Amino acid sequence: MTNQANAPDLAGKHIVLGLSGGIACYKSAELCRGLIKAGATVQVVMTEAAAQFITPVTMQALSGRPVYSSQWDGREPNGMAHINLSREADAILIAPCSADFIARLVQGRADELLSLMCLARPVDRVPLLVAPAMNREMYAHPATQRNLSQLVQDGATVLGVGTGFQACGETGDGRMLEPDELLEDLIAFFTPKILSGERVLVTAGPTYEAIDPVRGITNLSSGKMGFAIARAAREAGAEVTLVAGPVSLVTPRGVTRIDVKSASNMLSAVAERAQSATIFIATAAVADWRPADPSAQKIKKDGSGQTPQLSFTENTDILATVARSTAAQAGRLFCVGFAAESHDLLENAQAKRLRKQVPLLVGNIGPDTFGHDDNALLLIDAQGSFELPRASKRSLARKLVGEIAARIQAHVPPRQKAAS
Ligand code: CTP
Repeated sequence: MTNQANAPDLAGKHIVLGLSGGIACYKSAELCRGLIKAGATVQVVMTEAAAQFITPVTMQALSGRPVYSSQWDGREPNGMAHINLSREADAILIAPCSADFIARLVQGRADELLSLMCLARPVDRVPLLVAPAMNREMYAHPATQRNLSQLVQDGATVLGVGTGFQACGETGDGRMLEPDELLEDLIAFFTPKILSGERVLVTAGPTYEAIDPVRGITNLSSGKMGFAIARAAREAGAEVTLVAGPVSLVTPRGVTRIDVKSASNMLSAVAERAQSATIFIATAAVADWRPADPSAQKIKKDGSGQTPQLSFTENTDILATVARSTAAQAGRLFCVGFAAESHDLLENAQAKRLRKQVPLLVGNIGPDTFGHDDNALLLIDAQGSFELPRASKRSLARKLVGEIAARIQAHVPPRQKAAS
């Protein structure tokens, strides 16, 4: 039985992966593998030029299906590969999409299978996504830029390009995005845009409070839940800023990340951005106290066996501060708190929600979540509480984003959106 809560991101999606000619074809092998791992079925279609860069055998082995490359392919009983392939697809992704292939799409050419199939696709039902890949001069050329904007006007989604070292030896814009970036973009493409127009500010990870230049106090928070929430919010169409304590996680695609160390760094970063946010989600495990008088130099043992005497100062409560702000009190900023408890989750979390004056508080058991890839959440609001049962943090993050979106839609007075 498939576990719905942890279903792969592209479960049930059928992707036609089109390859046109370009050195980036080597990345398409890994992309194909990534699509399959994400639960999609993949049908590869290659141009003759693409087959100069990577063999159809490789793509067949990775996709588990014979590759199509000719409109005269006799395997289709009706002899219409272009119709059959495009009708089955949930999306057509051309990766790499060469400068020449972009021009072909713009012109509506139909003299080889991949162009023909794109032209024959039902535009209202089968989205076309293209991942450009070319030399930086070709990419910057007015003809290519003109063609790309025409392609967008014709209803295609043009994905970004990477910057950096190119196979030709030059450096600049035009590299095809990496397979994991393309995968993230495709998953985001399929996600309903329930947070469109919202500006989401998320705190994540632990904080680090210095004792001296080489030592400090921190905690076991991995930041995974906050990063998953930032990713889910971005996929749902929000503009997302992630204020992260010291963690070594990869920044979710399309998310603006601000790295901070201490609780007071985090407070400054948040205070600056909370004014323009419409949703604040505080997942960070902020240190409650910091050493009152951190030493400028490393504290040394003096051989007497005496231990250093540390005294502490309480850190400002970032969430409570934001929740008391005019924007939050006026209902323009929806605040969500987290509670990491070790016991009596419901009672402690309910009390914390009231103390911090937030409309929604998410409780979890600290030792069960810190460092883990899965978790269970208890949602508490003015109406009561309910549980999101144990699942991957990714899946819980999506559910939580859904819960936040539902509450925002029901919110009165109407909130200011970023678009307004
Ligand atoms: N929080 C914060 N700033 C702090 C302390 C906590 O923004 N200085 C936020 C956390 O990000 C979380 C919520 O407040 O959203 C609750 O954090 P938690 O550590 O569970 O609670 P505390 O307020 O520290 O209370 P206690 O230690 O008594 O459980």
